[in-house]
Amino acid sequence: MQRLLIEGGRPLYGCVPISGMKNSAVAVLYATVLIKEECIIENIPKIMDVYTVIESLKSLGAVVEWISEDTISVNCRTLRDTHVPECWICGIRASYYLLGGLLGRFGYCEIAYPGGCDFGKRPIDQHMRAFSAFGADCEQEKGYIKVEAKEALHGATITFDVISVGATVNALLVASSIVQETVLEQVAIEPHVQDLMKFLCACGVKIKLEGRTLRIRGGEQLHGCRFRISPDMIEAGTFLIAATACGGDVCCTALEPSHLSALCKVLSKMGANIDLASTQIRIRREGTVYATSVTTGAYPAFPTDLQPQIGVLMSIAHGESRLYEKVWSDRFRYLPELQKMGAVVKQEGDCAIFNGTRLYGAPVEATDLRAGAALVIAGLCAQGKTQISNLAYIERGYVALSEKLKNIGANIEKSG
Ligand code: EPU
Repeated sequence: MQRLLIEGGRPLYGCVPISGMKNSAVAVLYATVLIKEECIIENIPKIMDVYTVIESLKSLGAVVEWISEDTISVNCRTLRDTHVPECWICGIRASYYLLGGLLGRFGYCEIAYPGGCDFGKRPIDQHMRAFSAFGADCEQEKGYIKVEAKEALHGATITFDVISVGATVNALLVASSIVQETVLEQVAIEPHVQDLMKFLCACGVKIKLEGRTLRIRGGEQLHGCRFRISPDMIEAGTFLIAATACGGDVCCTALEPSHLSALCKVLSKMGANIDLASTQIRIRREGTVYATSVTTGAYPAFPTDLQPQIGVLMSIAHGESRLYEKVWSDRFRYLPELQKMGAVVKQEGDCAIFNGTRLYGAPVEATDLRAGAALVIAGLCAQGKTQISNLAYIERGYVALSEKLKNIGANIEKSG
């Protein structure tokens, strides 16, 4: 099993180019099943989750080719199947976008339950509500989900009970295949959802977003397009937190600063100096890291996908910090690992309370993707050697994480 070996305690200096956004790339790649022409997608991150999406599209009969280092051509004209082998479904969460995509294209889809990170209950009731509102029958049994339109799908008005990225994406995909207007209320507006909207617009769908309300008019003949995936705000945020934790002077380039407003506010409260430019953020930290309080929520609030990473920063901050997790019921599974490194933290319901201290290196285990990234940050700012197992989790979502960290002065190696 591959591990990461980190010798901590070094400040970080230099530039980090940010890759394309994982959660946008997987949504846009799955959305191509609606399009019967070639789509060229640029700035695709080369990570395990993307490879899984590509294999699932190929298994449906799509022609997928890398045409440069980070650009893919996908042609779903030849799609002939609605069956995707379980192995391409169970490894990632986003595979359930095939429900919306294939329901829109063929009026039918049956897949195994999607996988992805385990942080407690991950219900899909809002997805099912949307499919039913469009006129589809939905069944969930024996580990399978089936959606079927026995008659033509129709436009609908849907007000979601909770703000959900996945339900918004699935409803958008179905609505894009329907000529009548659909109105979606209480939608997620994360940058990756907005990327998907832009991609669908480029293919001929009419989409208007006002606040949290979306108006969508799909097309009978959607056309191919060339589209560029936005930079990954969570990758960028992970490096900005690492630089604050280790100290030094780091510039993250090729990103969209407005996506990181909530994080930048927190990091400057915690003692970082931040300079924003049009496509980069420079972060410097020399003095004390201060304690603070953070609450996660739907965009534009503080992202849950940076919660474990900011938890590490809180574990070395001076004083008591409070971290409230409001999106996932069980996203504090990394805390026992952090405690092995000396963190002083207790959990009370949806709140983790940290009393800042020094971390020291230890053998630890990544419990999911972002928890793994958080342990990397912990290893970088700890005294001594840290060994992180379950590296595969981290590689699902970060392009060349150890190489990018090495380039800014980290002592980090893969082994095994
Ligand atoms: N929810 C429901 N019912 C539903 C759907 C969601 O109650 O039908 C609840 C969930 O239990 C949760 C909240 O709504 O409390 C938000 O869930 P959401 O549906 O937004 O999450 P998701 O679509 O499954 C995506 C990202 C996650 C990220 C969340 C929240 C992708 C592929 N995944 O998941 O990303 O944590 O949104 O922002 O886009 C990651 O990248 O590490 C990751 C886990």
